[in-house]
Amino acid sequence: MRKPIVAGNWKMNKTMREAESLAESIKVDLGEFTKVDVVLCPPFTALKTVSDVISRSAIRLGGQHMSAEPSGAFTGEISAGMLRDLYCNYVILGHSERRAYAGETDAGVNEKTLAAHASGLKPIVCVGEKLEEREAGITQAVVEAQVKGCLSGLDEEQVKNTIVAYEPVWAIGTGKTATPEMAQDVHAHIRAVVAVMFGDDLAKTVRIQYGGSMKPGNAAELISQPDIDGGLIGGAALDAGSFVEIVKAAV
Ligand code: PGA
Repeated sequence: MRKPIVAGNWKMNKTMREAESLAESIKVDLGEFTKVDVVLCPPFTALKTVSDVISRSAIRLGGQHMSAEPSGAFTGEISAGMLRDLYCNYVILGHSERRAYAGETDAGVNEKTLAAHASGLKPIVCVGEKLEEREAGITQAVVEAQVKGCLSGLDEEQVKNTIVAYEPVWAIGTGKTATPEMAQDVHAHIRAVVAVMFGDDLAKTVRIQYGGSMKPGNAAELISQPDIDGGLIGGAALDAGSFVEIVKAAV
């Protein structure tokens, strides 16, 4: 019922040239494959280049971050309208690296989520517990507070067009992955929290990606879990072959 969605988060990697060739290879390797929604999130500096490469394909473009403000004196920031201007359809919000290095909070992510929707961008809202929180047995409470904080005030249409990415912080870039059972437990809890906020029917429409060391070797098993609807891929998205393998494992 929910179409799988796999997004590549390139983080602070790839020059314009490199981004162009990675996007081109992904486009060629994917060919006519449309059973999975595919999103590429290059750094801002490569958005235009990647946008041009994928313009006549089913691949969609996303930003990795944005400001909640529409314009003004915010040095270094970029707005939802600017992302739309470059033909972005998605934006990653509240990634754990932005929470850790740029002080992003649930309240701030909530403002951005609303601003993204107001501009017609679909937000990919990231949540996930830190290692010490998992060890303290408070994973579900942590993720629940993040989901409630980040998604408050959305209307029906906005809920349907929101993607949640569950990314246990201890699994990001570490080679450690949550087991499919561990991930499924948290995904089911996220869906239950969304159901309490917005009702069962809407909760069933929300796609929840897993992220954190997802690779060709573990993607199929993770995504086959009932509440895992795709992946947000970091390291493995920097190689066309492994990214496309993950996309094809998602059906
Ligand atoms: P990773 O990153 O796949 O390199 O663990 C995932 C992410 O941060 O989105």
